[in-house]
Amino acid sequence: MVIAAQQGEPGQDGARTFPEGFLWGSATASYQIEGAAAEDGRTPSIWDTYARTPGRVRNGDTGDVATDHYHRWREDVALMAELGLGAYRFSLAWPRIQPTGRGPAVQKGLDFYRRLVDDLLAKGIRPVATLYHWDLPQESEDAGGWPERVTAERFAEYAALAADALGDRVTTWTTLNEPWCSAFLGYGSGVHAPGRTDPVAALRAAHHLNLAHGMAVEALRDRLPSAGQCSVTLNIHQVRALTGAPGDADAVRRIDALANRVFTGPMLRGEYPEDLLKDTAGLTDWAFVRDGDLRRIHQPLDFLGVNYYTPTLVSEAGGAGSHTSDGHGDSAHSPWPAAERVAFHQPPGDTTAMGWAVDPTGLYDLLRRLADDFPRLPLVVTENGAAFDDYAGPDGRVEDPGRIAYLRGHLAAVHRAIADGADVRGYFLWSLLDNFEWAHGYSKRFGTVYVDYPTGTRTPKASARWYAEVARSGVLPA
Ligand code: FCB
Repeated sequence: MVIAAQQGEPGQDGARTFPEGFLWGSATASYQIEGAAAEDGRTPSIWDTYARTPGRVRNGDTGDVATDHYHRWREDVALMAELGLGAYRFSLAWPRIQPTGRGPAVQKGLDFYRRLVDDLLAKGIRPVATLYHWDLPQESEDAGGWPERVTAERFAEYAALAADALGDRVTTWTTLNEPWCSAFLGYGSGVHAPGRTDPVAALRAAHHLNLAHGMAVEALRDRLPSAGQCSVTLNIHQVRALTGAPGDADAVRRIDALANRVFTGPMLRGEYPEDLLKDTAGLTDWAFVRDGDLRRIHQPLDFLGVNYYTPTLVSEAGGAGSHTSDGHGDSAHSPWPAAERVAFHQPPGDTTAMGWAVDPTGLYDLLRRLADDFPRLPLVVTENGAAFDDYAGPDGRVEDPGRIAYLRGHLAAVHRAIADGADVRGYFLWSLLDNFEWAHGYSKRFGTVYVDYPTGTRTPKASARWYAEVARSGVLPA
């Protein structure tokens, strides 16, 4: 028998019991799994364009077919049910619902998500919909993209269309997934679509993503029933100093501002951090922030979604311009505006196939810090997981002990954070399926379900079975 843990301590048998009602899920994103890129009225997104640009995505891979989820969604929902998931986090493809980024919704696009959601609900799986997981309609980028205010205004219109169509059945909504990546990888280092490399555009994009979030929450609140939940998902960086030197502490402060507080400041406190404005004053005066913007961005949220994979280790750079890899891809352009004197280091420890250090204490520290900084805001881990070089053995089975160890360590960290007072309500593993890992194409497998790309065949890996048992029981075994 499992002995229920008290006060979050492991039971006598070492098992950790999660709170009643804790949400267990898996996550995906539209461009990474759907395929059917030109079907039913969908127009290209910035990722279709980027993937078609030679040299941008490994092996020339695109999301044209991906895991073909657009056609195999029924099978995928059946798998989720078989794997005991209580919730499924997915994203809506803006160019499928509102193809040119403006105007009326396309019925077929909405119908796809309606059918998906109805099937999830029929199987007792809670749908958690993200409005934007990086697939901006190309026409919106052509009209200026996230550096321009008009994109935030258009996003609010799209949010309204989505809520009108799905708000009766989807109660849990997330506006943006990782706006840091959209702004700083998309417009700063260029390792994500649309591939621009302009630090000022990146800062402008960050503000207009903030504004898009606030305006979308307004649109959702106007339309959702009172039980509707609104959130945003941030990839809060757990930034650590290489040494105790004051210069390293300042590097942490600077990167924390550019990675985290540029979003949590306006969204959760209604202001941009003073130090961020000062650090970036040589690039911009932030005149694009208009009167009233901060009030609109600062919306009450029902929870904060947190994505975590690995910590970020920094120091003061030895000499000017010594930019080292920060784990966010290789580019001659830094995603960190006005941070030329910060050096990035590989954190110690084993790494996953992404080269990312495995460090569950980073997740613990992150959750604890958020609980301290925003005490009344519930948290949900909306992504956590690992890529490994998985393959099917001769018997067809996919053994992935590395992923199980990763998940075990990180779930224990979540459990400990809850025991120490963090109000964490759920955990979504990234990812349900192997999928298109952005600039890495199909070379990195994050799924707990193996996808054989030539045939589309799905095979649950050992980790899927392991996680199913945790989700079913709410207990992390010793
Ligand atoms: C996150 C993204 C997600 C996936 C994981 C590995 O930054 O939100 O789509 O690519 O990383």
